[in-house]
Amino acid sequence: MKKFPKKTAMPKATNIKSCEGLVSIEGQNQLLHQRGITIWFTGLSGSGKSTIAMALEKTLFEKRNLSCLLDADDVRLGMSKDLGFSKNDRKENIRRVGEVAKLFVEAGFIVLASFISPYRSDRDEVRRLHEAANLKFIEVFVDCSLAEAERRDPKGLYHKARQGKIKNFTGIDDPYESPVRADLCLRTDQLTLEEEVTAVLDYLECNQIIVTQCINQSDSISQNPQATRSGASV
Ligand SMILES: Nc1ncnc2c1ncn2[C@@H]1O[C@H](COP(=O)(O)OP(=O)(O)OP(=O)(O)O)[C@@H](O)[C@H]1O
Ligand SMILES: [Mg+2]
Repeated sequence: MKKFPKKTAMPKATNIKSCEGLVSIEGQNQLLHQRGITIWFTGLSGSGKSTIAMALEKTLFEKRNLSCLLDADDVRLGMSKDLGFSKNDRKENIRRVGEVAKLFVEAGFIVLASFISPYRSDRDEVRRLHEAANLKFIEVFVDCSLAEAERRDPKGLYHKARQGKIKNFTGIDDPYESPVRADLCLRTDQLTLEEEVTAVLDYLECNQIIVTQCINQSDSISQNPQATRSGASV
């Protein structure tokens, strides 16, 4: 089994120098009329991460905002096809995605990352990676009971996991660590998809990531009051 160090490792290669680029992030923001951000959707399989991220991508496109969808299954078919579902492999998968997301945010994109990402420490590491580079990152808890996710079972995976055909399945025989300070929490067993998309858009607008107006929210959506409300307008 592959072993990855607990702390972020130093690059193996030496004599590496970061390419600063000649275009500033502020310049990219002005060009795109938005600020770059990673929106990290975490939650159980079947909770609705991809469904919300895809709907959001479409809505942002219609609003002329540039986004980029990073979805777990696509990543596992390509960039992370050498990884499985052990704790270390999950950690490495999330680390890679975090690095890719950071590059896109630096280019001004709104990154929509939908990953179960069951371990709090892995998600926190992606947040730290962004914040260390002064880049925006929010964690969206796609909150759905296990019973409801299992009832939906859109890929038939819970069924297979219950039969013992899939091992290390989150919520069945692998843990899921709920966020303790999610910037946004969406109860997808209580809200409609439209309400969820509106909640995220409202967050982006209120925090001046995209330009429009704030919308009222219902009780099934909770925003972290510590969430930043400042920052340069676009
Ligand atoms: N309010 C809701 N929000 C989002 N999805 C919902 C909602 N109500 C029902 N669904 C359904 O739940 C399913 C969620 O599946 P989806 O593939 O988005 O889950 P996921 O969290 O991305 O899972 P995975 O981690 O396996 O990729 C879809 O079939 C979707 O139509
Ligand atoms: Mg998905």
